[in-house]
Amino acid sequence: MSAWINLYCLGRGGDFRHSERILIALRQELTQRDFDRIVFSGDATALGFEGEMQRAAELLGVGDPPPGLAVPGNHDYCTHAAMHSGDFERCFAPWQIGEHIGGEVYPFAQRVGPVWLVGVNSSTANRLYWDARGRVGAAQLARLEKLLSSLEPGPRILVTHYPIWLANGGSEHTFHGLRDLQELISVAQRGGVVLWLHGHRHEPYHHAHSERTPFPVICAGSITQRSRWSYNDYTLTGSHLRAVQRVFVEEEGSFRDGRVFELDLPIPSELEA
Ligand SMILES: [Fe+2]
Repeated sequence: MSAWINLYCLGRGGDFRHSERILIALRQELTQRDFDRIVFSGDATALGFEGEMQRAAELLGVGDPPPGLAVPGNHDYCTHAAMHSGDFERCFAPWQIGEHIGGEVYPFAQRVGPVWLVGVNSSTANRLYWDARGRVGAAQLARLEKLLSSLEPGPRILVTHYPIWLANGGSEHTFHGLRDLQELISVAQRGGVVLWLHGHRHEPYHHAHSERTPFPVICAGSITQRSRWSYNDYTLTGSHLRAVQRVFVEEEGSFRDGRVFELDLPIPSELEA
């Protein structure tokens, strides 16, 4: 109820009122631009209802080419009922195929050329309406450790909902971050992760790897929030990643190139594409 009031009475929904129009334009991009893989890092819905999931999956073309990888966001698990319903996993099932451990959905890995994309579920339902924290959990962390060590050689790219850093380099607020962030970073580091892709934050940004983080981190931003409509188009050549932001232009009803940035991933030379 509190999420519904925020969306419909306090004006939050107005920020997303063009979602269908933008996603129809996005679908055209996805079918025309010859992508190897679509990466979706969560928050397909506002309130976690099955109908929202179904519509989002339909608009994104889940199940049709090109193939994708999807992990849930905290909005998709808006309530405990939504989290336990399996609605997200049912609607996005074609984007969750790959290597799994012990029949569990998360984590999972998909091979794309020389690279392994590894999807981790970092979202949970929370009881209090201001609580937007996530958790990977000890059991999934153990499976992730096993998965990362059992995959064939190749750079590992982690996809999850929660960030490591905010755009300004600071930490997430107390009730907006990942409870076991440090544990996930440690497992990722030991498992040879070379890049961390995430959502949750609505502004797109990135951080190159540094002494603070052993790999670069990229936030996709939001495809549907007013005036922030964009997604990133990545090209990986060897260890060099080129990212082009594709920005939706409201007057034209289509996307154009925006900001471009380039990163060198810490890939050992013997594993380069
Ligand atoms: Fe989120």
